[in-house]
Amino acid sequence: MVDRHAPLRSSRWFGTDDLNGLIHRGWTRAQGFSARVFDGRPVIGIVNTWSEVANCNAHLRDLAGAVKRGVWRAGGFPLELPAMSLSEPLMKPTTMLYRNLLAMEAEESIRANPFDAVVLLAGCDKTTPALLMAAASADIPAIVLTGGPMLRGRRGREDLAGASAIWDASDRRRADDYSDERWAELESCVARSAGHCGVMGTASTMAILAESLGMTLPGAAAIPAVDSRRGALAEETGERIVQMASLSGPRPSEILTAAAFRNAVTVLNAVSGSTNAVIHLLALAGRAGVPLALDDFDAISRTTPWIVDVRPAGRHQMEELFYAGGVPAVLKELSPLLELEALTITGRPLGAEIAAAHVLDPEVIRTLVQPLAPEGGLAVLRGNLAPNGAVIKQAAMDPALRRHVGPAVVFRDKKDLMARIDDPELDVGPDSVLVQLMSGPVGGPGMPEWGQLPIPAKLWQAGVRDMVRISDARMSGTAYGACVLHVAPESAVGGPLALVRDGDLIELDVDARGLTLRVDDAELEARRAAWEPPSPRFTRGYGRLYVDHVRQADTGADLDFLAGGPGADWDPYQPTSH
Ligand code: FES
Repeated sequence: MVDRHAPLRSSRWFGTDDLNGLIHRGWTRAQGFSARVFDGRPVIGIVNTWSEVANCNAHLRDLAGAVKRGVWRAGGFPLELPAMSLSEPLMKPTTMLYRNLLAMEAEESIRANPFDAVVLLAGCDKTTPALLMAAASADIPAIVLTGGPMLRGRRGREDLAGASAIWDASDRRRADDYSDERWAELESCVARSAGHCGVMGTASTMAILAESLGMTLPGAAAIPAVDSRRGALAEETGERIVQMASLSGPRPSEILTAAAFRNAVTVLNAVSGSTNAVIHLLALAGRAGVPLALDDFDAISRTTPWIVDVRPAGRHQMEELFYAGGVPAVLKELSPLLELEALTITGRPLGAEIAAAHVLDPEVIRTLVQPLAPEGGLAVLRGNLAPNGAVIKQAAMDPALRRHVGPAVVFRDKKDLMARIDDPELDVGPDSVLVQLMSGPVGGPGMPEWGQLPIPAKLWQAGVRDMVRISDARMSGTAYGACVLHVAPESAVGGPLALVRDGDLIELDVDARGLTLRVDDAELEARRAAWEPPSPRFTRGYGRLYVDHVRQADTGADLDFLAGGPGADWDPYQPTSH
């Protein structure tokens, strides 16, 4: 039970007339603050994933300034601090390896400092789920503020659909169907400003889900990064967090409830969001202590129409979604499917927040009775090849491949794939099923976005545009194709994927949710007995911690010791120390 009248948490640092109080105030005043900031006002942490290596987050310092304006105006004391900046384009081997590290860093930074509440500034793919996970574990009042989508990719009058455009260009270039001049020009106009990718990739999806969960102010997800209204929203965020600090709530544990997660999964399907969001929501639910399973995604998918027409599955971009009414309008249209009593950071239920919203462009946000598809974008597959589940983005695949049987072409790992995929001698045809091993949480390591295996060049040149592809990897939310992802357990820990051989028949049946390796049990047992685990990738450092403790994709790939409810049992403040 939260005590709304308890003294502010920050008073333990700044409100005592002893040596510790003097040190805490004196060294903070070293930055030029007057004594007035210690008059009992709430202290607001602004956790900022800004950096110059994460272009998507490059404008977050400006947004932090706007948050501070709001905090000051509402009578609070803002203190900004940096957090690990995860850059999707630059970080190797994959930002996913570091999502849990950012979540840990932010959680500990929040808990160890004199904050009464925090604003969490995120943008690029993993920064939003990581900060949500940190908020769930630290469990002091928190608002997420995402950076918004970047300007759309544009070449002359050609709409480039941002990151999605590069997958197509890459396949065409490998097949000598894309000139060097066009390739060079693409680099100059595909990502035109700060802000996250503007299609329904992971960043857009997670921003939408943060709003749907009730962890942002209404309307926050879709405002373009460079639109002045984002600055205004940041200012409002600063004002609201001071109120939340004064009331000690609502806290993440009051917002991240089972109802909120069900709402988020509904929205994920309705927007045909990134498959990565499945993993992030599972991990977040694990942090919040809320039961959520892979099968919940499939069950909700079957009853949730796809209504938001944004690429890569649809036609438009996030900017159009904003003009169409943004997430509040999507939620309003989805109202019959949502649990509207779920609490949001405004202190009001979701239903109250969207009461006045309406759809401004039915081309972008369809109705429930005239959806883009009667089912959601995601399907969860099971079978002897994925006993603990796998995921496919059914909205973004060739419908002709929904039921498919074909012979496997197996690649030992990503390196093997890159060495052989375009070999003219490769024994592969349009019906083949491409299988890539060693791409999961342990094998990747970090479960890289390698799941959109490239179409072999000779097949691309012959006109093949989609094939069944299977891996334990993830896939960029901007990517598309009949790619079976997140196979669990993964090949690196001896999952059945590790037992597939060239020529084995594999059956995919999206309607039946099946993924079957047509090899008899005795043969599979013999292969299993002969299987040898790969040697460990890491002997030290965070990599070692990660592979020793990471859970499988079907439970969110968090570290095993971080799951569970909020860590309220640990008090960082030691009165005898400063
Ligand atoms: Fe950051 Fe796409 S590169 S969201």
